[in-house]
Order: sequence, then C-alpha cells, then structure tokens
Amino acid sequence: MRVLSVASECVPFVKTGGLADVVGALPRVMGGQGVDMRVLLPGYPKVKAALGQTREVMEDRTLFGGPGRVLSGTAEGIDLLVLEADHLYGRDGTPYLDAEGEDWVDNPERFAALSWIAARIADEGVSNGAAGGWRPDVLHGHDWQAGFAPYYLKTRGGTVPCIFTVHNIAFHGSAPAGRLGALRLERSHFVQDGGFEFWGRIDALKAGLVWADRITTVSPTYARELTRPEFGAGLDGVIRSRAGDLSGILNGIDTEAWNPARDKALVARYRTPRGKARNRKALRQEFGLPEAPGPLCAVVSRLTQQKGLDLLLDALPALLDKGGQLVLLGTGEAALERAFRAAARRHPGVAVHIGYDEAMAHRIIAGADAILVPSRFEPCGLTQLYALRYGTVPLVALTGGLADTIIPASPAALAARASTGVQVYPLTAETLALRLMDLCGLFSDRDIWRMMQENAMAQPVGWETSAAAYAALYRDLAGTP
Ligand code: ADP
Ligand code: GLC
Repeated sequence: MRVLSVASECVPFVKTGGLADVVGALPRVMGGQGVDMRVLLPGYPKVKAALGQTREVMEDRTLFGGPGRVLSGTAEGIDLLVLEADHLYGRDGTPYLDAEGEDWVDNPERFAALSWIAARIADEGVSNGAAGGWRPDVLHGHDWQAGFAPYYLKTRGGTVPCIFTVHNIAFHGSAPAGRLGALRLERSHFVQDGGFEFWGRIDALKAGLVWADRITTVSPTYARELTRPEFGAGLDGVIRSRAGDLSGILNGIDTEAWNPARDKALVARYRTPRGKARNRKALRQEFGLPEAPGPLCAVVSRLTQQKGLDLLLDALPALLDKGGQLVLLGTGEAALERAFRAAARRHPGVAVHIGYDEAMAHRIIAGADAILVPSRFEPCGLTQLYALRYGTVPLVALTGGLADTIIPASPAALAARASTGVQVYPLTAETLALRLMDLCGLFSDRDIWRMMQENAMAQPVGWETSAAAYAALYRDLAGTP
C-alpha cells in the first residue's frame, strides 16, 4: 500500500503548529502498518537543507510562474518528495508570512502549485530510476494547502482515491475570484453548490471537502462539531452533506520524543509523578518564580483567538488568590503577547516567555503541575497529550480532541478513581475561574492529585490505535484487503 501525503509543514523540517507533528509522525507509524508513505513538501530553504542525496523524479517547466521539479530523497528517516520551485518557496521565515507578518500575496499560487504536483504524482507516478516507478494507491492531503489536490486530480481524470484531513477549519486558503485563471481553476466549478466558491471567493479548503472521496479530522468530537454552525466556519453545510464520508481519527504523539524517562531536555528524568519535583524546582528558578502553596500551571501555545487565552487573563486572579502560579510560553497575536507580558509585570506569580522554544516546552510540561488548554475550539490538541504523559494534569475546555482525551474530575470518575483532568463547560471567564479554583482544591488533596497524575501517565497517547484506523481507511479506499 503506497500513500502520498501532501502538506505544507512536517516535523522536524518546518513547523508552525500541531499539523507538522502529525505529518511528520504518520510516515513512521504507518510504516508499522505496512504502508509505504511519502510526504510531498514545498522546497522551503530549510527543507532543501535537510535533504542529503536526491534524485530528480519529475519536472514542470511552467509551474505557476516559473520552473519546478520534484526531488526524491530521505531525511530523518522520512521519504520525502520535495517540490523545488524557488520562485514560490525560496524565501526565509515562516511558510506563510512575509517579514511584516502579512500573508504572502501569492500564497494561493504557492499552495495551488503544491496541490497541482500532488495530483500529477498521483496520476502519473514518479520515475524512480533503477528502482522503477512509484505511484500512490491513495492521495492524502492535509488542510487547505492541499485542498486543490483532489480537485486537480479528479478534473484531469485521475482515479487514485483521495482523503482530505481537516486539522483546522479556521484557515480556508481564500483567494479573490479574479485569480481563477491563475490558479488553473474552471469557472464552471466556481459555484456554491458542489463547487469551491465561498461568499464570492475561491476557497481551497472547500475544494478539498467537495472533491475528496473521504474526509477525516483529528478527533471524533471535532468531526461531530464540524457539522454544526458554531464550529463549521461557514462550511458546516458542505460537511453535513458529506457526513457519510466523514470520520474522526484522534492524533497521537511521538512517545519517544515526549518520554519523561528519557527526555534530555529535563534536569531530572522520571518514571513516576514524584520525579517531577526537581523539574518543578528548576522551572521556578528558570522563570524567577517563588515557591508557592498552589499548583504551578502552564500554557504552551500559539497565542490566537482559538486558544481562549484572553479568558485566562480574566480568570487569572482566581488561580493566584489560591496560591497558584502561571508559566506561559507562546507567540502569536501582538495584543495577547502584550497582555501576558503586562500580567507578568503585575503579578509575581506569573512568568511569561514570548517566543518559540522546543526544549523550553519540554521543561515546562515536565515541571508544571497542571497545563491549561481553554480553547474555544480544538480539533485535537497535542499539549494536553504531552501533559498526560508527563503526569501534568490538564485543565481543558470541553471541545474537540480535548473532550476525547481527558477524563474529568466528576464525582463519578473520582469515585471510580479514573479522572485525569478538569473540564470547563460552558467556556467563559467565570466558569474558567471556578474550574481553576476546583483545580487548586484537587491539588491540595495529596491522595486525589497523586491518583490523577498516575492515571494521566497511564493513558495511551501514542499512535497505535489511530495508525490502524488510517491503515484501514487507506485499504478500504484503495480496495485492497
Ligand atoms: P495547534 O496546532 O493548534 O497550534 P496543537 O496543540 O495541536 O495546537 O500543537 C501545537 C504544537 O506546537 C505542540 O507541539 C506545542 O508544543 C507546540 N508549540 C506551540 N507553541 C509553542 C512555543 N511557543 N514553543 C514551543 N512549542 C510550541
Ligand atoms: C491543528 C489544530 C490542533 C491539532 C493540530 C494537528 O493545528 O488546531 O488542535 O492538534 O492541527 O492535527
């Protein structure tokens, strides 16, 4: 079974969020399921630098304004197909933003080109020199950047089945209608019903939803939420019309990279919750926080509306009054960065690092008592999964993958000694404040807290179940037993 995975990010080469983790994990975990997966990525400078020996396996002289070619190579154990097209990807910085932090104006073309080449590879296969050719049995695209891959494939008469995975419906990959020709899209498909038109604009995400044979998303609860107007970002109708082809497959995490017993980023590695104490002490020192009677809470996150952290700013006094503290590592919207910096200046129990730092994320998740994820929506969420593995109790909103991965400290679950975290619902600053106080209460009961930490560490958070689910989906689509 051969699968072409198409995405704009992939760990360890390029990452802005959890999408990259998932795209980077899939080839490895699918290998264990007998799936030969190759990942098609844009040839950003960082991706090209990671490639060792390569072979050119496809050429395209007229790729959306310049020449392109596909290089095949292996890096960090992942079989890559890299689309080299310097007029589109030969730029430093994040994959999407220019130096001013604005979207590159040609983002629609940049990712249409990626999708175009994905469709060509799926339809024509690539030449593999002496090793013969390679052609996928299934095309698997991720998010809007791969949205037009099923469209280009189907409209050129290709027969390879397509899966489209929604990691985040908030990003549509929208372009003005005037770009139809430039994006190689047919005007007859620029319609609301059964096409990629959305409020007068071209919508790459919608194209993926309409033209893929199956749609998946990254948790069962988010799959249900996507069919509702509150979560569907205007596309809930399209998704409802495809409900029979939609499923939710929960993300796993890399349990080697995130393993408290072996994590080189920590001052002390550990196998039981007791081992967290030295990491907590070191974390307080690193962030200049005093010892405190309440829980040391953490946030590691993009700072965006999605993550609900504005609500946390309002609810913060409830935590601090109970002797709790907050460490935040994050980067994103300027207003939120400013607000958290100001909170850190105002409160001695709050420490903030604005930036992106992988090793610091590990130290924080190991040293903190609890992690806070009050997202307004969360397709899956990875940090609560890291936290579980590190015996760090998650406080989460009851939405998406957060709802699917945490067993709340309800009376019944506590009585059954099954709880792993705290859930907030409905999500407001007031309810968040109340649940933060509950968290402090649970923390002060040593027996209960210890039980929750142990339960957390015992949760399965790896890829085993979900890898089998993807493999079953691929086989079903490709019609192979
Ligand atoms: P999303 O993809 O919506 O950002 P996820 O929880 O799925 O949310 O994934 C976020 C990923 O990015 C996690 O691996 C998290 O540890 C990482 N991350 C987010 N912000 C930072 C940061 N400032 N420093 C280090 N890692 C971060
Ligand atoms: C998105 C979502 C996040 C999910 C990640 C990986 O960025 O916001 O919830 O975990 O994709 O699927």
